[in-house]
Amino acid sequence: MIDTYTFTQSKDIISVQPSDNIFKELGNNTYDFKDLISELIDNSIAAGPKDKQIDVKIIVYVDEQNNPTDFVITDNASGIPQDLLGKAISPAGIQTKNSLNEHGLGMKQAVAALGELKYLATKVAGEKKARIITVFKFGSLKTYNADFNCESGTEICVTNIKSIVLTNATAYTRSLVPYLGARYRRLLKPENKKLNLTVSIVKKQTDDVLYTWSIAEIKPVYFHPSTRENRPVILKHLLKGQQWKAELTFGYAPKDKAEYEELGLEQPNKFHPYNVSLSRQGLDVILHDRAILFHQLSELEIIMSKHSDYNSIRGEINLIVGFSTAITKNSIIYDSNFKECIEEITQILNGQKEGPNKNKQNYLKTKTYPEEIPEKLLRDRLIEWLVNNPMSKKQNVNKEFVVWKGLKAILIYWLIKKLGRSKSIKLVP
Ligand SMILES: Nc1ncnc2c1ncn2[C@@H]1O[C@H](COP(=O)(O)OP(=O)(O)OP(=O)(O)O)[C@@H](O)[C@H]1O
Ligand SMILES: [Mg+2]
Repeated sequence: MIDTYTFTQSKDIISVQPSDNIFKELGNNTYDFKDLISELIDNSIAAGPKDKQIDVKIIVYVDEQNNPTDFVITDNASGIPQDLLGKAISPAGIQTKNSLNEHGLGMKQAVAALGELKYLATKVAGEKKARIITVFKFGSLKTYNADFNCESGTEICVTNIKSIVLTNATAYTRSLVPYLGARYRRLLKPENKKLNLTVSIVKKQTDDVLYTWSIAEIKPVYFHPSTRENRPVILKHLLKGQQWKAELTFGYAPKDKAEYEELGLEQPNKFHPYNVSLSRQGLDVILHDRAILFHQLSELEIIMSKHSDYNSIRGEINLIVGFSTAITKNSIIYDSNFKECIEEITQILNGQKEGPNKNKQNYLKTKTYPEEIPEKLLRDRLIEWLVNNPMSKKQNVNKEFVVWKGLKAILIYWLIKKLGRSKSIKLVP
């Protein structure tokens, strides 16, 4: 390594010019279609007044052969003021802490990955017409004006569409629409709806609407092992480090049709984001009210590898303070804050550290809950003890021990605990 104290200043100056190639390069990212759309939806949400429900409409135009021709997203949020438009277009021109506008890249990444910008039209309250630009580049840009059917808002139109844009209605119904519902669930609560999001496929030549989906809230369903209600076992347990704050919600999904029926719910189909399966086990990671990552368990090394035993594990890690996403918002920066947070969650879930109510228990071993041990097995264990225990052996034990169901479970649990055989059995609070 050269000693920096030995550097002497030279008279040569290097000039570094911004290259417009960056606007195209930003499209070479790891996003899927839902992630690209989400970047644009995030911007609309971030620009929406807090007290007002915001409308976001996405239209994919298709030709006669069902090939995508244009992608348009329109919102009625606050628009981009003239003096901010240049910065908004410049990559990393704006960074905002603790906000959905994090890196100053999302819109450019999304547009370049979807195709080529046709126009960006934006209008702030009080302006008569929308201000329009037709290209993302450095330097001076021509602007245009046109009518815009809203007091304020933004519309982005992309053309020369790339193959990442889906036009198959089944793919929307099965995957895109439910995952958008799950990602933005906190803003889609029917009792406090903040986002009105629709996605449509429209025939370009005739303007016929072929399909429209109104995105609805999709959230994990829980089945509490003790109360048998749709309720997690751990609800919003606060976790804190020196520089970070998060909340843990944890529970188990209903394991079969009967348990869904007990909750009065239909068992989801295999495409549903929270269908019980190997690929959907785990917790969602939420930042700024948006699910950044779905189904995280082995991925965060909370367990070493996926196993069907963990299929019903559900939950949310809500990152409140001290965390940031990578420049693509499909991952969280694995810094010391996130590491500490995940380590603490892992220790609580595997029973190494106290969780809620100063309770230490292995939440990951769902198989050890009394409700999940078949009744026959519990009864046999009890009989074995009654007949064999050295302190007060019983000669005659009647197998048909009929008492009220709840009382029976408690009694069996208590007896087994007394026996010292309950080391792996714990009741869920
Ligand atoms: N629909 C919109 N309504 C109002 N302002 C917008 C909209 N879309 C983009 N902007 C403005 O453009 C800026 C740049 O957007 P862009 O998505 O490129 O980056 P960002 O949102 O700042 O950060 P990130 O990389 O985290 O998305 C935003 O900060 C915002 O000020
Ligand atoms: Mg953005």
